[in-house]
Amino acid sequence: MADTVDRRAAAAELARLRELVAHHLHRYHVLDDPEISDADFDRLFDALRELEAQHPDLFTPDSPSQRVGAAPQDRFASVAHELPMLSLDKCTSGEELDEWLRRIDDRLGAGRAQQISFTAEPKIDGVAISLLYTDGVLTRAATRGDGETGEDVTANVRTIEQIPLRLTGDNVPARLEARGEIYIAIADFHRFNEAAIKSGDKPMVNPRNGAAGSLRQLDSRLTAQRPLSMFCYSAGVIDGWSPDSHWQVLDAFSDWGLRTNPLTARVQGGDALTRYVDDLLAQRAGLDYEIDGAVLKVDDLAAQRQLGNVTRRPRWAMAYKYPSEEASTRLVDVEFQVGRTGAVTPVARLEPVFVGGVTVSNATLHNMDEIERLDLRRGDTVLIHRAGDVIPQVMRVVMSERQKRARRFKAPTVCPSCGTALVFDDEEVVVRCPNALGCPAQQKERIRHFASRLALDIEGLGDKLVELLLAEDLIDGPADLFRLTAEQIAALPRMGDKSADNLINALERSKTTTLPRFLYALGIREVGEATAAALAEHFDGLDAIRAADVAALEEVDDVGPIVAAKIEAFFADPAQAAVVDDLLALGLNWPAHGKQGGTAGDAPLDGETWVLTGTLEAMKRTEAKARLMALGAKVAGSVSAKTTQVVAGPGAGSKLKKATELEIPVMDEAGLIERLAELEP
Ligand code: IVH
Repeated sequence: MADTVDRRAAAAELARLRELVAHHLHRYHVLDDPEISDADFDRLFDALRELEAQHPDLFTPDSPSQRVGAAPQDRFASVAHELPMLSLDKCTSGEELDEWLRRIDDRLGAGRAQQISFTAEPKIDGVAISLLYTDGVLTRAATRGDGETGEDVTANVRTIEQIPLRLTGDNVPARLEARGEIYIAIADFHRFNEAAIKSGDKPMVNPRNGAAGSLRQLDSRLTAQRPLSMFCYSAGVIDGWSPDSHWQVLDAFSDWGLRTNPLTARVQGGDALTRYVDDLLAQRAGLDYEIDGAVLKVDDLAAQRQLGNVTRRPRWAMAYKYPSEEASTRLVDVEFQVGRTGAVTPVARLEPVFVGGVTVSNATLHNMDEIERLDLRRGDTVLIHRAGDVIPQVMRVVMSERQKRARRFKAPTVCPSCGTALVFDDEEVVVRCPNALGCPAQQKERIRHFASRLALDIEGLGDKLVELLLAEDLIDGPADLFRLTAEQIAALPRMGDKSADNLINALERSKTTTLPRFLYALGIREVGEATAAALAEHFDGLDAIRAADVAALEEVDDVGPIVAAKIEAFFADPAQAAVVDDLLALGLNWPAHGKQGGTAGDAPLDGETWVLTGTLEAMKRTEAKARLMALGAKVAGSVSAKTTQVVAGPGAGSKLKKATELEIPVMDEAGLIERLAELEP
C-alpha cells in the first residue's frame, strides 16, 4: 500500500521535474534567455536524474535527461552531425575525480590511470561549434544542437576573424572537422555592453548568452559586429590522417591556423590532474574569458577507443566543474553614488551571496535606464553574475518570485551628496551633478583618484583618511594635501605623530612623479593610464599639452574627437587650470625625458621596445603598458627583431616562441615587477 502511494508521488514529481527541466532547457538553448542560474538548473537536473535512477520503471525515453540541448529552430538549415557531438560527465571533487580514474583502471588495467598521459584544458563557457574543412577550405559550420542535429551557421561563422577560412601549413587532411567553443572575451563583453547601453541598445546578459545569441543571428552582418572568439578543442571527422593522440591533434590544429587554448597541458597520472585543476582555478579570475571548469581527456586515441562511450558521454573524458559565477539573491535597495566626474550611478545593494569565489553585496547598474530595462523593484530576487576581476552585474529579475505591489525605484533629481539639481548629460546617457569642484562626493572621489596607485600613489592616504580630512575642512582639493602640516594630521582621531610623519613623508615623496602619472591623477574625463602615457609620449611636456587644440590632440594614438574635446575643455576651464598651477607651484615635478625638454635619451627605457604576452596576474596589462611607457619604453603588439624585451605570463604562445627563436630576452611578471621597482622614481 505504502509502495503504491510512494510510486504515485514519485511519478507526479518526475512529471513535474521533466516539465520544468524541459522548460528551462528551451529557455537556455533555443531562446538564449535563461530564467534561472546554471547552478540552479544543475540542481534541478540532478534531482531528475536521481529520481529516475531510483525508479527505473518510471523511465521514459523522451525525458529531457535523455537529451541535453534542444531541437534546433527551423530558421536555419539542419545539419546532421556525421559523428555525434558528445556531452561530458562532470565531477566537482577530488574524490569524484579519483572514482573516474578507478573506472579507467577497471577497463585499461590496474594502475594504468597513474601511468597514462592526459590532456587537461580549460572548459570554455561558450557555445560548441563544428567547423568542416574540405580540402582545407571552410565549407560548413554547425552548432551542436542536440548533439545529433545542429544548425547551419556557416554565414555567421565566416564573419569571425579568428576562424580561418582556409587552413594553412602542410598535410591538411582531405576532410577535417574541427570542434571547439565560440565565446566572447570578458573585456570585449564589457566594451560591447558599455557601447550598447550608451546608445540605448539592449546589453548582453552574460558572455555565454551573448555568444549564443550572436551566433544565431539570421543576419550575418549583425554577427560580424559582435566580438566573437574561438578555441578549438577536438576533432570530429578526419579523412586522410590517423593521429595517435589528442595532443597531436591539437598541435596539428595550431599548425593549420586553428586557435587552441594556450593553457592546455599534457600531464601524466591522476595527481598531476588534481594539480592542474587547482592551478587553473587559481588563474580563473585573471583570465580574459569565462571558464566553468577543466576538461580532462585520456590522450592516447587507441585508449580512448578502448574506453568507449556510455550514452553520449565518453568514458575517456571528464569535466571538473568549478563553482558557478552566477547566483540569485535579494535586492535590498538601490543607492545612488556620485563619481569623480559627477556622474550619478545607481548601485544595487544585495543580500550577501557567495559567487565566483567571493561574497558579493553590491552590483553596478550603470544608469537609470538599466533599472527600467531590468524592471527592478525593491525586494526582488535577482540573478547576478560575476566573472573575472570585475564588478558583479545584475542580469535579470526572477519574475516568478516578485512580491505583490513591489515598489519601483525613483530617480533622484538632486545630487545625493550636495543637493545641487542634477543635469542630464545627453551625450553619455548619464545624470550628472554639475557642482564639479564644490560637491563633497566629487571632491572625495577626485582626491582618492589623485592619490591612487596608478596616479600619485600616496601611501597611507586611504579612503577613511580622505573622508576625515574633508569632514574636518582641512582640504578641499588635491593641492591642499601638500599644505597639510604634521600637527594638523596628528590631531585627527586615531592618528599619532608617527602616522602623521609617515603621511607627510609620503606626500613629499609623491611630489616627484612622472608626467603620465600626473596627467592621469588630474582626473580628466576619458583620460585613463594608457591615454595619459600616450599624451606624454607625443607632446613636448605639460605646457605643450595644455596649449594643444583639438586637432593637435587628435594626432595622439587612441585620442579621438571626443577625448580630444574633453582634454581641451579641461585645461581651458579656469578653475581646473588654477588647480594645475597650484600643484606645480607646490613643487610637483617629474624628470623631463623623451621629447620633453629636448633631452632625448634620459628616460631609463628610452629606445627599448617591449612586448607583453600571456596573462599578467598581479597587474592589468594596461597598467604594465602605461608604467613601461612612462619609463620611456615603446610597447609593441608583436615580436620582431626590434623587440628588446618580452614579458611572458602563463599561456604565452606564439609570441614567446618567436622571442625564443630570435633570442630576445624573456622575463616573467615577477621579473617585470622587480624591474619597474628599480626604475620607477
Ligand atoms: S570536449 C567528448 N573540451 O563543454 C568531448 N568540451 O559539456 C566533448 N567545452 O559541448 C567536448 N570547453 O561545448 C571539450 N576544452 C573543451 C571544452 C568543451 C568547453 C564544452 C563543449 C561541450 C560541453 C560538454
